[in-house]
Amino acid sequence: MKMPIIPAVKGDFHLEDYETVVESFDWSQVEEQFSWYKTGKMNIAFEAIDRHAQGVKKNQVALYYKDDFRREKYTFKEMMENTNKAGNVLKQLGVEKGDRVFIFMPRSPELYFCLLGAIKLGAIVGPLFEAFMEAAIFDRLNDSAAKVLVTTPDLVERVAKDNLPNLKKIVLIGDEVSENDKVVNFKPLFEQASKKLEIEWVDREDGMLLHYTSGSTGKPKGVMHAHNAMIQQYQTAKWVLDLKDDDIYWCTADPGWVTGTVYGVFGPWLHGVSNVVRGGRFNPEDWYKTIEEYGVTVWYSAPTAFRMLMGIGEELVNRFDLTSLRHILSVGEPLNPEVVKWGVKVFHLRIHDTWWMTETGSMMICNYPSLGIKPGSMGKPIPGVEAAIIDDQGNVLPPNRMGNLALKKGWPSMMRAIWNNPEKYKEYFTHNGWYISGDSAYMDEEGYFWFQGRIDDVINTSGERVGPFEVESKLVEHPAVAEAGVIGIPDPIRGTIIKAFISLREGYEQSDELKEEITLFVKRELSAHSAPRQIEFRDKLPKTRSGKIMRRVLKAWELDLPTGDLSTMED
Ligand code: WTA
Repeated sequence: MKMPIIPAVKGDFHLEDYETVVESFDWSQVEEQFSWYKTGKMNIAFEAIDRHAQGVKKNQVALYYKDDFRREKYTFKEMMENTNKAGNVLKQLGVEKGDRVFIFMPRSPELYFCLLGAIKLGAIVGPLFEAFMEAAIFDRLNDSAAKVLVTTPDLVERVAKDNLPNLKKIVLIGDEVSENDKVVNFKPLFEQASKKLEIEWVDREDGMLLHYTSGSTGKPKGVMHAHNAMIQQYQTAKWVLDLKDDDIYWCTADPGWVTGTVYGVFGPWLHGVSNVVRGGRFNPEDWYKTIEEYGVTVWYSAPTAFRMLMGIGEELVNRFDLTSLRHILSVGEPLNPEVVKWGVKVFHLRIHDTWWMTETGSMMICNYPSLGIKPGSMGKPIPGVEAAIIDDQGNVLPPNRMGNLALKKGWPSMMRAIWNNPEKYKEYFTHNGWYISGDSAYMDEEGYFWFQGRIDDVINTSGERVGPFEVESKLVEHPAVAEAGVIGIPDPIRGTIIKAFISLREGYEQSDELKEEITLFVKRELSAHSAPRQIEFRDKLPKTRSGKIMRRVLKAWELDLPTGDLSTMED
């Protein structure tokens, strides 16, 4: 049974009346918010930091940072100086407009200085999650022909620097180590760097961000975003995050993922809002403490985290004063109605689901303050975005019919390229000018969208996108593995977990030790989140005559479903 609608929140929210805004809205109306509208000089990092640093907000805290060892804060003016200094360090090392600068490290203030400093130079930043291992890192640096990598002395061990001819410099943040032609220490350079930097003014279509993400076939693809994305990133932070001048905002995502850059950096700072960054792993007690300590007002997180907090129970929540919270949002996976119910109970607030993708560059379909929430629904398209459910021929389907969740091409933050792969880019737009998301959904009579699943085989585990092909390719590199097929199976906390079906090479015995060894192998080479949590050995895997593993059949085996048409299967 569906839960009743939770009515819209009353109060002075930005988006007063959805229907009126939808009618009259045009993206060009947003442009006058930016300083480039008057000056003609554009750079998203300038809009996020320097604009505020040069105005009344200069002494307002831009960044509150904490982890187990550090607790720091930086005003907008200090952020301007530090991003300028980081920019100067990178410039000195040869970074120029259009170069790819990768940042591979855990959250720290320096990560944010370097990210924005590189963008100030007109470079394209590729953030890499700290859990990535050798093969995953190599693929990304190699495909993007990254010129400079910013990392730490611990993590640099995972970088095959001698096999990456385009990688000219590695900058180490942390304890000083011995330098050579390629490797330099950040600290001494940063300390000497000038606080003034000449910002590189860019064209709105110039690239600024490169996030690698998984599809169902092939290696991860580099999704490139341009400075123009700021228009939608700003406007969704206003309408959906509902950010206002005195908010204290906390986005729990790591900048290795798109939520952690778009809404962990640009969204709040384009609005000149104080941004909380907590480094380190998930920790329920410390999460609540973070809200209490900083007086967080707007909190953007993910279903997996909410489910874990819910699982711990109310005794813990009640130990903290969380009354500063006024607005909570979620992204990355389906938000279960039970979680929405729990949110109302413990926080006395609705949790607002938001749907978007790395490729879309900002939120697309959302629940926002002025909208009644139907628990289990992702909400409605934001004004200026046209979403529809289409069939495989590109025809728009009527309400309540399940099909491809598609978006009309041309929203401001749409990805501008798949790096190095124009063919892949085209594959998204093959249906009459619609962008195909890969998700299936339906829309009800009132225009609310309901997520149903992925159409392709991409696995969403704890909100992280894993391409089965990448995992399968890694698995078959293990000496014991002859063939491997990887699927997602339902899990109450993580939403989905990864299961691998494996057939062994001759001479290898099935055993639990071998399962563990194989899991560890993937963890070591790719990342912990791509490693299978379950392995099942089979003598033979279902394959098409052309030799492709039929994941559909594996899913049917697993979930006890009919296997469907097997006419293409060998034997
Ligand atoms: C899934 C994350 C259900 C979806 C910003 C999408 C969701 C993929 C939701 C993108 C949601 C994202 N409800 N599913 N509210 N939000 N997804 O690129 O399958 O890491 O295609 O971007 O996550 O994941 P990505």
